[in-house]
Amino acid sequence: MNINKFNAISCLFALVFVNVAIQSFTTAGGRVDMTYGRGRSMLVESDSERSKELIKPIPINYYYDKAKVELGKKLFFEPRLSKSGGITCNSCHNLSTGGADNLPSSIGHKWFFGPINSPTVLNAKFNLAQFWDGRAKDLKEQAGGPIANPIEMGSNHELAVNVLQSIPEYVQWFKQVYGGEEINVDRVTDALAAFEETLTTPNSRFDHWLNGYEETISEFEKEGYDLFKNKGCIFCHNGVGVGGNSYRKFGNIKPYDKDTHTLGRYNVTKKEEDKYVFKVPLLRNIELTAPYFHDASTWDLDEAVKIMAEYQLGAILTDNETSKIVAFLRTLTGEQPSIALPILPPSTATTPQPNRN
Ligand code: HEC
Ligand code: HEC
Repeated sequence: MNINKFNAISCLFALVFVNVAIQSFTTAGGRVDMTYGRGRSMLVESDSERSKELIKPIPINYYYDKAKVELGKKLFFEPRLSKSGGITCNSCHNLSTGGADNLPSSIGHKWFFGPINSPTVLNAKFNLAQFWDGRAKDLKEQAGGPIANPIEMGSNHELAVNVLQSIPEYVQWFKQVYGGEEINVDRVTDALAAFEETLTTPNSRFDHWLNGYEETISEFEKEGYDLFKNKGCIFCHNGVGVGGNSYRKFGNIKPYDKDTHTLGRYNVTKKEEDKYVFKVPLLRNIELTAPYFHDASTWDLDEAVKIMAEYQLGAILTDNETSKIVAFLRTLTGEQPSIALPILPPSTATTPQPNRN
């Protein structure tokens, strides 16, 4: 064998080996059973075909500011950011249940029910903007909202900052991350956003398939994916989040008349054509976050899929087609963030006391 050719071949082997090693490394420690990483299934010869798919795998988070993320995590679970001292971000974005609360609309301060279904915080960093109508440009801007929302946490930014400032451990942690003695809303929301950025769910079975593995999804699920593409769902639900990257009218083909009060994007732009236009939701982990739609009009994922086909695409799906699409949607459930519940420091004599009014 010609020596150059041999080198080329061994290089190729080395590359394949490194690739496999990276694949197993990126999934090490995850919940996903990696039997196919050990030879039961194979990496397809060339994954270049799949890299052209309009849905992209969730990248693995490697680099983040550990101290800032830890601080953000404490704040996410901090009930004293609410006026009543009883509501946390996790109350409505429960990380034990897919980052949402599985309620038609959330229960906030004084037991108020909000006007809209709470979206998941999982993978929210892949959204082009935050909220159903996109009124916050990013996670940091969003995080200031709920603290001061009278029917969510019911507090205000000054009060929330006073609470944190009265607790020496928080003063110390903010100083470590940001320098200086001052705690302010900008820093609070920055830390919350840094924590939320780590809340991604990589390594779903579908992502392994996208990465070139076989057998991580069944033939039935694969047929569901083909229907998802051929019927046109992928037109709006694509990219890393399988949604989250455009605004679309709910009632694209057939007017949606179950909820005509929530105007969506119109609230931001005041343009007539933006009435009933919403940010296309992420379909990652969708099986975990019933009920569905901004108005929580159904608890049944099969029904949600049929409604989408009818109102968005003008198509009536058979039960069999619907089951296949739903089976595909379930392959989008990824590795859930593994969170050690943070231990919060005690209040001091100067900490403003909870107020339920
Ligand atoms: C009382 C329930 C409640 C609490 C508490 C709450 N949220 Fe929310 N959250 C919601 C609802 C409802 C929405 C959707 C509102 C809308 O779109 O108009 C939302 C939207 C969001 C979004 C946007 C997601 C998307 O897909 O657009 C993020 C991110 C978020 N909340 C993070 C937080 C953080 C961080 C906290 C704590 C500081 C928090 N939430 C506290 C109910 C709550
Ligand atoms: C024209 C764009 C468009 C098309 C095509 C489309 N969707 Fe949607 N999808 C949306 C929008 C916008 C929403 C949010 C509707 C709302 O609640 O206001 C949504 C919501 C959903 C939801 C509920 C998400 C949640 O978190 O509540 C599911 C499930 C869904 N779509 C699946 C599908 C499937 C399956 C298809 C194909 C049969 C499809 N969509 C086609 C734009 C689209």
